[in-house]
Amino acid sequence: MSTILISTQIPGPKSKALSERRSKSVPRGLSHGTPIYVAKAQDAWLEDVDGNRYLDFAGGIGCANAGHRREAVLDAVKDQLDHFLHTCVQVTPYESYIRLAERMNEVTPGKFPKKTIFVNSGAEAVENAVKIARAYTRRPGIIAFEDAFHGRTMMTLALTSKTHPYKAGFAPFPSDVYRVPYAYCYRCSYSLKYPECDLYCARHLEDTFKRVVANEDVAAVIAEPVLGEGGFIAPPPDYFKVLIDLCHKYGILFIADEVQSGFGRTGALFASERYGIEPDLIVTAKSMGGGLPLAAVTGKAEIMDAPGVGGLGGTFAGNPLSCAAALAVLDLFERENLLARANELGDHFQRRAREWQHRWPLIGDVRGLGGMQAIELVKSQQTKEPAADETKRIGQYCYEHGLITITAGTYSNVIRVLVPLVITNEQMDEAMDVLESAIAAVCDQKGAVAQLV
Ligand SMILES: Cc1ncc(COP(=O)(O)O)c(C=O)c1O
Repeated sequence: MSTILISTQIPGPKSKALSERRSKSVPRGLSHGTPIYVAKAQDAWLEDVDGNRYLDFAGGIGCANAGHRREAVLDAVKDQLDHFLHTCVQVTPYESYIRLAERMNEVTPGKFPKKTIFVNSGAEAVENAVKIARAYTRRPGIIAFEDAFHGRTMMTLALTSKTHPYKAGFAPFPSDVYRVPYAYCYRCSYSLKYPECDLYCARHLEDTFKRVVANEDVAAVIAEPVLGEGGFIAPPPDYFKVLIDLCHKYGILFIADEVQSGFGRTGALFASERYGIEPDLIVTAKSMGGGLPLAAVTGKAEIMDAPGVGGLGGTFAGNPLSCAAALAVLDLFERENLLARANELGDHFQRRAREWQHRWPLIGDVRGLGGMQAIELVKSQQTKEPAADETKRIGQYCYEHGLITITAGTYSNVIRVLVPLVITNEQMDEAMDVLESAIAAVCDQKGAVAQLV
């Protein structure tokens, strides 16, 4: 039986009315991937205010890996609601914060002693990771990558790469941030090919220390183990080992931003595990809170203890409802085989997407790690000219036919999959059928495409 149910023109009348109210009351700077207003979400589907039902490849931008409104998460939050909502952990602490810190210290890669602090958002966690790295090393510099996304606060904008819409008009940004190319093999900055390149892009850090910033002035290198907003780019298997060896050679910390790649997305709880690496600091958020706002920095105990008493924290940081939800999410990962499921879903996606790549030159690259999969769309497989318009039209076709997708990539030409890992095989087939017909509509039926624009 079909999960998707579309009974109005999309957007329906109620969504349209809300869009009108929205345009008068909310600044345009807040964008929306779709014009659909949600009324309900469960597991891997959403229902809008007009009663249309969609499958969800976006998961609230990677926040629903364990599924929307899982019963265990709701029960944990309801139980917490019956006790207290907020006291501020800096005034009267509570056990769930400590228990969650203990769990995070256990489940993150690395057998060394660790500590964890909680904050509210991915950006806030990245900010704190930078503070901690600077306090520990007593150095200012942070090296970030081209195509990286680390958030929308001022420091994280300095670390983020994409200029439009994120950075344009918001300068000046904090200083001492240096940018180097990432291992984006499909568009290699050095026009090399893996493995013959011998990971030139990682080894090139030595050169950066001579030409751009002195190694003794660098506190940390921060990287997403798989780029999220930057286009779901998973570097070659040995890339991070080379990079981290170089960092440690110069007393530089390695921060893994696992805000998007973490919490089961790549078939391991953390993508770092897929690369066999143990970051000095690891930043998590999104799916950790099971739909509630929560983020964390976990790291080597001696590094985490570098900031002085009172140097870390925040009024709502690690609030009790979010901690309760996160503990339930970790239990779900232990109880249900969600990591294996991420790999199955990734394989499912790859199988279909590789067929599309043979059929349609629009599909330039199919890539990912575990359940973190994407297609990069190009006007020609030879020139690799990004196909941003086509990507947009595919997204529009998809939501009009019952599938919520989101794009990514510096050139806005990537369709990424952040589907809740609880989607059934039948639902996944249904979703992939919609995506396939969207690509077909854009590639094969120019008339149909014209109607969509
Ligand atoms: C890798 C990465 N880091 C940081 C952030 C910022 O997280 P937040 O939006 O919760 O501040 C994001 C958000 O998409 C992200 O993908």
